[in-house]
Amino acid sequence: MTKSKVINVGVNDRKVDLFEGLYVVPNGVAYNSYIIADEKTAVLDTVDANFSDEWLNNVARALGGKKPDYLVVLHVEPDHAASVFEFVKKYPDATVVGNAKTFVMLEQFFDCKFENRLVVAEGDTLSLGEHSLTFVFAPMVHWPEVMVAYDAFEKCLYSADAFGKFGALDCDEPWIDEARRYYIGIVGKYGAQVTALFKKLDGHPLDIIRPLHGPVLTENLSYYLDAYTKWATYTPEAHGVLVAYSSIYGHTKAAAELMAAELRANGEKDVTVRDLARDDFYVCVAEAFKYDRLVIASVTYNGEAFPATRAFVDALVERNYQNRTLAIIENGSWAAMAAKAITQKLEKSKNLNIAGTAKVKSALNAESKAEIAQLAKTLAAL
Ligand code: FEO
Repeated sequence: MTKSKVINVGVNDRKVDLFEGLYVVPNGVAYNSYIIADEKTAVLDTVDANFSDEWLNNVARALGGKKPDYLVVLHVEPDHAASVFEFVKKYPDATVVGNAKTFVMLEQFFDCKFENRLVVAEGDTLSLGEHSLTFVFAPMVHWPEVMVAYDAFEKCLYSADAFGKFGALDCDEPWIDEARRYYIGIVGKYGAQVTALFKKLDGHPLDIIRPLHGPVLTENLSYYLDAYTKWATYTPEAHGVLVAYSSIYGHTKAAAELMAAELRANGEKDVTVRDLARDDFYVCVAEAFKYDRLVIASVTYNGEAFPATRAFVDALVERNYQNRTLAIIENGSWAAMAAKAITQKLEKSKNLNIAGTAKVKSALNAESKAEIAQLAKTLAAL
């Protein structure tokens, strides 16, 4: 019979307005922190500064009067490490465990030395009793100092940011959409680094994944691993089309809606239409990565694509958007420039098939309707 246990002592943040100052989180976000209570007791990661007291109370309750031996810091970003100093003040005898980069960053954030430290190298193992943590470095998943820890006893991966999602733990929503929005938004640029981490973890059997955000994953792990493999390799997750538009007076919106209708009329089952200025911007970005085809419909503005379209295309390029098909609907009442501006930005994207551009002059007419219908036919045949 096992005599050890693992407890989540993390917190739900429903107060945050923007996660990382950028992402809306209507259902909040969880900062997970785990205690492995074994012969030795280890606390894994802390929480955001606004929740230090709540978290320290959770830790004290879980410890039941025992003193922790270790605080393991897998990731120094302040949503996880902001309470390290408070922990060390309360438990000065605990050893802080991190790698060389961990301590450089901790000292930058806290402007103090953590004297009681254990600096681990790649592949080092910290034995706690039944449990043992083997550290696997995961640079840029999502910061350079990140490491994950594998516990062979439970076949558990403490995965840091990987496999996390937006949403507090008490919200009832499917994992996939908010995990995709979180991953593409935050780690999307670093697919090569995520793939490198998976390669290092090859041969480590997995029954449990304990991420720093979102639920502990214990069942059907191949579903989550498969999603991550697709995202990390920029492989479309779904056969479908995102039609992402920006419109001023509704004419480009009408063109986008016509495109969606024509796609459906051509048998396309999965078509999503988004307004880049009004819908959640990072849902739009994540959905561009979800589907194998994208239609950008944009009005021309100041000799460029509309600002919301520009921001969208920049966000795609920044996250290594590739391996997909793109079509453009360009609107311009004079000197139309949107298509040129969009394709110039996307020149940096690898393996992008440009299926064509349909042109609208001010408002839909018979000619532009026919161009959109033809482009929809081409896209639906792919
Ligand atoms: Fe959840 Fe990169 O911090």
